[in-house]
Amino acid sequence: MFDVCLAENTLDSICTATKLKRELKCYSSIIVVKFSCTFDFIKLKKGNNMKLIAFSASSSRKSINKKLVAYASSLLDSFTVEIIDINDYELPLFSEDKEAEIGKPELAKQFLEKIEGADAVIISFAEHNGTYTTAYKNLFDWCSRINPKVYLNKPMVLLSTSPGPGGARNVLEVASQSMPHFGGEVVGRFSLPSFYDNFDLDSNKITNAELAAELNDVVQGLKA
Ligand SMILES: Cc1cc2nc3c(=O)[nH]c(=O)nc-3n(C[C@H](O)[C@H](O)[C@H](O)COP(=O)(O)O)c2cc1C
Repeated sequence: MFDVCLAENTLDSICTATKLKRELKCYSSIIVVKFSCTFDFIKLKKGNNMKLIAFSASSSRKSINKKLVAYASSLLDSFTVEIIDINDYELPLFSEDKEAEIGKPELAKQFLEKIEGADAVIISFAEHNGTYTTAYKNLFDWCSRINPKVYLNKPMVLLSTSPGPGGARNVLEVASQSMPHFGGEVVGRFSLPSFYDNFDLDSNKITNAELAAELNDVVQGLKA
């Protein structure tokens, strides 16, 4: 026998499998789990303490991609979500000369630590002239000089949106193609076209049911 003691009120947060939850609730505040069950139990516990880092690859204070990434993250209720802002990691414009002058910036290290601490990542890309925003690319370049595998083999979902019907699909394509070279394991991607027609700024939700269902399917891939 192998004893595992749990406070009753932590049960909901640590049990995803309904069957196991039902079985565990048969016991009182002290739960005794047979050793043969322990492996599954530990896996479940880990699965439910998963941490998600999400951010918009835009430095705009009113970023529509930030709204989209916040909505997408809210669909993953079993994850602890942290939405970060790349403005908090603003660095001088990268050049090898600047790098020789200032070395490896603390903020780039801190960004990499955020990625390291995550079990999964969601990024929503703003498109500037068909590609990344300068703000994102600059942070990415600095980080890549510390560790070229910036995304540390984390599973990730890539999103994009823009006010136009293209939904920033060009930058999404660029990101999807390049991510595997930088340690990003892309499990899904989604582009929201015509942001202001398909997203309600009061409820902060996608209004188009088909697009909402498509995004939900994509983000749930992070649970697999
Ligand atoms: C310099 C610049 C270039 C842009 N280029 C594109 C583009 O190539 N494709 C596109 O769909 N939108 C483009 N836009 C419009 C952006 O999609 C729009 O500003 C959007 O709000 C950016 O996302 P964000 O709000 O998350 O920053 C551009 C905007 C700026 C300021």
